[in-house]
Amino acid sequence: SFALSSLTHLLVFAALFPGGLCQYGYEYFTWLAHIMGYSRSPMTSDCPAKCTCPPIFPTAMYCDTRKLKHIPVVPARMRYVYLQNNQIEAVPEGVFDNATSLIWVVLHRNKISSEKIGKGVFSKLKNLKRLYLDHNRLTKISFPLPSSLKQLRLTSNKISKIQPDLFQGLKNLTMLLLNDNQLQDVGGSFEELTSLGLLDLSNNQLTKLPAGLPESLHQVYLDFNHISSIPEEYFQKLPKLQYARISNNHLTDNGIPQNTFNVSNLIELDLSHNKLQTIPPVSTNLENLYLNANRIREFTVDSFCKNTGIMNFSKIQVLRLDGNAIKQDELPPNAHQCLRQARIIDI
Ligand SMILES: *[C@@H]1O[C@H](CO)[C@@H](O)[C@H](O)[C@H]1NC(C)=O
Ligand SMILES: *[C@@H]1O[C@H](CO)[C@@H](O)[C@H](O)[C@H]1NC(C)=O
Ligand SMILES: *[C@@H]1O[C@H](CO)[C@@H](O)[C@H](O)[C@H]1NC(C)=O
Ligand SMILES: *[C@@H]1O[C@H](CO)[C@@H](O)[C@H](O)[C@H]1NC(C)=O
Repeated sequence: SFALSSLTHLLVFAALFPGGLCQYGYEYFTWLAHIMGYSRSPMTSDCPAKCTCPPIFPTAMYCDTRKLKHIPVVPARMRYVYLQNNQIEAVPEGVFDNATSLIWVVLHRNKISSEKIGKGVFSKLKNLKRLYLDHNRLTKISFPLPSSLKQLRLTSNKISKIQPDLFQGLKNLTMLLLNDNQLQDVGGSFEELTSLGLLDLSNNQLTKLPAGLPESLHQVYLDFNHISSIPEEYFQKLPKLQYARISNNHLTDNGIPQNTFNVSNLIELDLSHNKLQTIPPVSTNLENLYLNANRIREFTVDSFCKNTGIMNFSKIQVLRLDGNAIKQDELPPNAHQCLRQARIIDI
């Protein structure tokens, strides 16, 4: 927008001083080119030929969507490097040796395989906060990660295993995306991630929920796995969890201990496309509950309100029960008082 407003200034200038533009035009245009990063002034002479390094943002290097096969030399001044949408296959040891101030390394949608990532290439970046490696060809994470990381995106790879100590010491990690991989068992891999807020493990092959999730978690996505049961008190141990999605799994009533979902912090719970036959008891604080495409036979108001009263009612706003085996298509008579805040109830 800065470049755009400069162009506007130039046009205004031209309108005010017709004929004067020739005199000043050259300077204006080089200045404009400089602003837009196309000149070869001293500021940008260290910019690799195929990349753009806008002088107005001297710590960022844009090399995305240019059919690159290799990572170009990254000047030491860079903090943000954008390399997504290329054909990069390797992140060799030493490739970021001069660029030790990097904060963001964006490498998604390339062809990077685990074997072609140098062991120390990321752990050397002591200030690295975001690492995007999603949509590549990783099968495992065989390289250590720097403890400064805040966001790690590994979506859409072929990761089937997580080394037990991989996430050790990543105390600042708040977001971890591992969805669309081939994970079968993650054990207690996430235990040490004491700042983790969002964990996405959807679209894997998990048969169990991850053990020892950190208490900091507020969103967990586990849709499209093979989970059939939930351990006792699982969600009681996650006092900050607000959003839980476990749709498209193999959950049955037998696999769910009595008060599993009756936890006061949950706002949204997605259990759609499972094999549940009853509505599990939930807290009155829950706002969105998705139970569509299960095998539920009865609309039990008891699952939402044990005691309905002036002050006691469910905060449910959206309730989906469509695609079940519930016979009557009307709400049970005692539902209105309990579910008085509901905007949408699909039966
Ligand atoms: C690091 O900088 C030196 C000196 O500018 C240069 O010769 C070298 O190629 C750079 N190495 C990398 C990996 O960028
Ligand atoms: C983690 O975050 C805190 C607070 O922002 C910061 O002071 C600390 O240096 C970070 N740790 C690492 C290893 O970067
Ligand atoms: C949920 O648990 C509370 C106690 O923590 C209990 O009073 C309430 O009846 C339970 N709700 C349901 C629907 O079972
Ligand atoms: C709300 O329900 C609780 C039990 O869950 C009960 O002890 C209390 O009396 C009820 N309050 C009202 C106003 O109905």
